[in-house]
Formats: sequence, structure tokens, C-alpha cells
Amino acid sequence: MCGIVGYIGKKNALPIVIDGLKALEYRGYDSAGVALWDGVKIRFEKTAGRVSALESRLSRKSWSGKSAIAHTRWATHGKPSDRNAHPHADCQSGIFVVHNGIIENYAELREALIREGHSFLSETDTEILAHLFERPFLSAGQIFLEDAVLEGLRHVNGTFGLAVISKHDPEKIVVARRGSPIILGIGDGEYLVASDASAVVGITKNVIYLHDNEAAVLTPSKMEIFSTLGGSAFGGNLSKKTLQKPIDKIDWDISEAQKSGHPHFMRKEIFEGPSALENVLLGRLLEEGSAKLGGIVAVRDRLLQAKKIIISACGTSYYAGLVGKYYFEELAKIPASVEYASEFRYSNPVIDPDTVAIFVSQSGETADTLEALREAKKRGALTLGVVNVVGSTIARESDAGIYNHAGPEIGVASTKAFISQLGALVLLALFLGRERGAVSDVLGQKLVMELKALPAKMKKVLAGDAGVKKLAEKYSKYKNFLYLGRKYNFPVALEGALKLKEISYRHAEGYASGEMKHGPIALIDENFPTVALAPKDPVYEKILSNIQEIKARNGRVLAVATEGDEKIGKLADDVIFIPQTLEMLTPILSVIPLQLFAYHTAALLGLDVDKPRNLAKSVTVE
Ligand code: G6P
Repeated sequence: MCGIVGYIGKKNALPIVIDGLKALEYRGYDSAGVALWDGVKIRFEKTAGRVSALESRLSRKSWSGKSAIAHTRWATHGKPSDRNAHPHADCQSGIFVVHNGIIENYAELREALIREGHSFLSETDTEILAHLFERPFLSAGQIFLEDAVLEGLRHVNGTFGLAVISKHDPEKIVVARRGSPIILGIGDGEYLVASDASAVVGITKNVIYLHDNEAAVLTPSKMEIFSTLGGSAFGGNLSKKTLQKPIDKIDWDISEAQKSGHPHFMRKEIFEGPSALENVLLGRLLEEGSAKLGGIVAVRDRLLQAKKIIISACGTSYYAGLVGKYYFEELAKIPASVEYASEFRYSNPVIDPDTVAIFVSQSGETADTLEALREAKKRGALTLGVVNVVGSTIARESDAGIYNHAGPEIGVASTKAFISQLGALVLLALFLGRERGAVSDVLGQKLVMELKALPAKMKKVLAGDAGVKKLAEKYSKYKNFLYLGRKYNFPVALEGALKLKEISYRHAEGYASGEMKHGPIALIDENFPTVALAPKDPVYEKILSNIQEIKARNGRVLAVATEGDEKIGKLADDVIFIPQTLEMLTPILSVIPLQLFAYHTAALLGLDVDKPRNLAKSVTVE
């Protein structure tokens, strides 16, 4: 997501943190900013746009100072703008904060702070933090900045990796982490803080990784790391327990550091799938078995009256939409259809005010999806966006929506965004199902529990990466593949085939397994392998028959099946197992081996995995 870098030491901090921001640019961002303690006061500058724009503003000033914090922002709350860029300050511009993560209870905190007399300049959740850290200074007078930060964080639900400087207690940077990475760099008479190793490797290879619920104080002469005592971290009391943590040595160069040690962004992003799911669910699951979605509150009544749902999208987002259709019909009992955006916009669709049109787009800028949205709006539908990039055109032009919060996706082939789109769609369907009385308490609670358990199950699938790599080696000699799935896993078959073709340039066709006998079966022979999705679900026996049909024609079968399935091994040539989950959630697990399989095939063939030929990450032309 966003990027943090901070420096305190003997040198001029400003050029160092600007270089750090440049090293973080690869992550994608929409604005940048810096705050610097110059020995007398805190100076700050921030701007929407590139780091170079920030640099050119700074070039007109001759600031220097020994400590600074800086940030590249990727919008989550509030559109990209100068005001929403970090750092954010309190009412007296005495405390400056840079923050990654999401403050879940930000609306309540903002209201409470306004009632206390605080005023806000931005629409961000981060600005809340500066005001929360200001409060102890207002009530207690002179206290240590770290104590004010810990006191402020007691009120916060959600995730943060943050760095703070203050004129009330200068010559130090206070940092804290819960759920968002923070790395401390140890140089020669200098300390750094960053959200990502790439921002520190230019200065030092010696780092300490902060864990959740840990905080640190950096001064020019020392660094103190501590955890909070008591049951709930950052809660209860302010006592701190000092920690001695080991120093790690980074032996990556900057390009490896940007990929967190993975050889390609795509692999890094596949491994970010569990956190992408956690982020889309964050603060949105209700124990009573429902979902809370802030972005649709304003259109709630119209949404609940929906008689028909149309989902429209392109590429991987379209396949997420196909899974979404099953969610809306099964959970909310609303008829749903899915249209390619490029078809929908010219298809003269039948739309009335009871139609809800949902547009799924990672980038929020895909030209066909945007035009489909405009067409649906013109025809009177209630439009919703399921979008990853905050402030993008589709996000702005939809009546309401759900943000994915998956963080920037750099690999052209979409992976973690697909996972988070499924998360957003199931949340919306659950919300509708509960509000319309179509989902029982028991089913709602089961779904919520299972969604919470899913990131750990995804990690288990990812742990089988080496096995998938071996299979990719075995199958890399084949030029054509058939992908089969049924019901919830039919769209996964389509997505698996798309992944393989777009990055490995192998021909792959996704099919509904029941349709196989109406055509593709003619292709099957010993040189045309099939990837069959066969989790233990109500259509399991059906897909087993399809596998038998393929085997009878000398076809090779690589199956994705549920752990404990002893039958499948006797039929398929190779099996990748995924943990048991609810039928409707199997796509979130079953897609992972297919992403890995495509990745390893392309990597083995020596292809440009992250930038496949002829493709673009965001297709902004028709
Ligand atoms: C391009 C990308 C795909 C993506 C599709 C839709 O084709 O290469 O990965 O799925 O666009 O993009 P969107 O940003 O609208 O989800």
C-alpha cells in the first residue's frame, strides 16, 4: 500500500528521505509528502502526484534538519489531493504523522474529536491519529511523545504502521506497528524507519523487523524498542517493556527488496493473497453473521429493493463477477447476470430503477467498464463499484461501492485483486441476504467464521508452492490445456486458463465441465492435458465422471481436490490438495494453485512474467 520512510542522524535528513520515497515509487502511489524537524520548527510539504513534483517544490526551499518522516500515499480514505497527502498534523501543527493501514473506527473517532473541539483539514483516517496524539499533550502538558502515541493508539481499531515527529518532544521519531510492516534500519550514527526494505538498503543492510504491537523510539544516538504490557497491546496501560531484538542483515539489492525477496511481483502478489482477503474483510464482518459496508450506507434502501443484479467487468474482474452471480443468487435470492463490459455497453440492456448494476474493476479505469457504468446510470440503474484504486474514475462515478483495499497490484496478471474481489462480493451478498431475510443467523455466522478462517487456509495452499513448481516442470512440455470446473469453480477454471495463457503463452481453454462433451472432448488425447477443479462439493461426483471420460481418451489430468479425498488420486495423474471450506468459498482456495501453476510455467519458460507481451495492466482505451 502506501510507503513510509524516516531518518534521524548526523546527515541532512531531507535528501535521504526523498531518495527513500523514490525507492518506494515502484509500489504505486498518488501523492507524496515530507515533514522535517530543522532544529527550530517542523517544516512540511506535500502534494498530489509524483515524488518529482514534491522534489521540485522542495528545491525552492533550502531546508535542512536531522530528522524527517516522509510518505507516498495510495488513497484509501479520501481522494488523492494535496490535502489528503501525508504527513498529517494536529490542530496546532505540533505533531506530524505518516501512516499505512486502515483505521476501522475512524468515523466514530472523528466525530468524538470534533465534539472535543478538534478540527480537520483532510478526509483521511490518518489525520485522526495526529489529533489523538495531541490530546495527552493538551491534558498532561509536557510528556514524552511515545507516551502520547501509545495513549492515542489505545482508542484505535484497525491496522497501522506509523511514524511520528513532534515539536513538543523533538530529536526523536516514534514508530509503531499493528498489521502494517515497519522495518528499522541501523546505520552509522543514524537510524531509519521504513515500510519496505527497499527504502533503507541504499543506506544500511542492518535492519530490525518490528512485530505487531511493538513500538520504537529513534533518536540520533540510540534506538529503543518496546512492547506494551498487559493483555491487549496498545490498550490497558501505558507501561512499556523494553525488547532486545536481533539485527537481521538484508542481502538483497534494491530490485529484490522491492519484491520482498520474490523473483517477480506476480509471485509476491500471489503470496499477498491472504492479506488481501484480510484487508477486504477488515472491520466488515459482524459476529452476528452479517456484514457492515460503509460505502453502501447511503443507498441502502434502494439496494434492498433490488429485483435484478447485473455485474459487468473485463478480464479477471469479469470472472470474479461470475462467482459473484452465484453469491447473489444463493445468499440474497436476487436474480443476477454477468456481462462483459465491452458487450454490455452496446447490448441495449433492459434496466429499470430496481436494477442494481455492479462494476468490478481493480484499476477503476478500464475504459469498457467505465462506459458500461455510464450506460447503466443513463438507463436509471443504481450503480455500485467494486474497485481497488480509491478515487479512480469508476469509484467516483458509481453511486456507491466497496473498496478492495488490496494495495497496488504491479504484475499485469491479476492475482490478489481477484481474491479480494471475491471477498467484497461475498460480503455484499451476505449483507443483502441478511437484510432481506434470505440468510439465517446460523448460515450467516457460519460464513463469517469460515471467512475469518480462510487466510490461514490460503497460507496452507501457498505452502505447497514447491509441489506446484514440480508439476509446472512436468507439464511445461504441453502446448494446450483444458481447464474444467463446475458451479462455483467454473469461473475459477476460466481464470486459471486466462492466467496460463496470458503469461506463459500456452493455449488454455476454460470450460464448464458439463459442457465438455459438447465439443472440447474432441481435442482430448495424450498431448492435451486437463486441469480439473474437483473440490468436495455437491457437484464433485459430476466432475469425477468428466475426469473418467478424459482418462478413457488417454488424456492427462491434474486435479485440484479437497484434503482427505482418497478417490481422486486413483483417477487423476496428479493432485493438488486444498483445505476443506464452505462450497461458496472454495474459489478463494482453488484459484491459488492455478495462479502458482501459471506463474511457475511462465518463469520456467524464461518469460517476462510481470509484463507479458501485448498486455497492459490497465486498458484505458476501448
Ligand atoms: C487488463 C489486465 C487484467 C485485468 C483487466 C480488467 O486486461 O491485464 O489483469 O483483469 O484489464 O482490469 P480492471 O482494472 O478493470 O480490473
